[in-house]
Amino acid sequence: MTFFSWSDDYLVGVEKLDNQHRAIFDAINEFYNEIQALRVSGAAERALTVLLDYSEKHFVDEEEYMKREGYPELDAHRLEHQEFRDQIAKLIDDASRDKPFSVALLRFFKTWIVEHILETDMKYAPVAQKTE
Ligand SMILES: [Fe+2]
Ligand SMILES: [Fe+2]
Repeated sequence: MTFFSWSDDYLVGVEKLDNQHRAIFDAINEFYNEIQALRVSGAAERALTVLLDYSEKHFVDEEEYMKREGYPELDAHRLEHQEFRDQIAKLIDDASRDKPFSVALLRFFKTWIVEHILETDMKYAPVAQKTE
């Protein structure tokens, strides 16, 4: 089942970054599926690691792109990425004491990524459309 559906409304107009956003959606769904399957083999933890690795790589690439393009709001954008890292770290930390952690993490990921793409990433889309 698809927990989190992609929509072209999320396209920012930079192919590499759009593909990474899609990959993050896929990884969120993979994490969701592993949680639903309730396997005891650590598959959900592995799916979460993949999701976090994708997200981290995407943040680095996106910040590099904005820097290259001379995007004026890079610092504020970078701060949002950092706040995300901090909140995820806190949720994972809480999770080691309190179960089930996965629901809170999933919910946070889904809300954050949608709001961040639509409000913050979208701000560099006009720059991208001019230069691509
Ligand atoms: Fe971003
Ligand atoms: Fe992004």
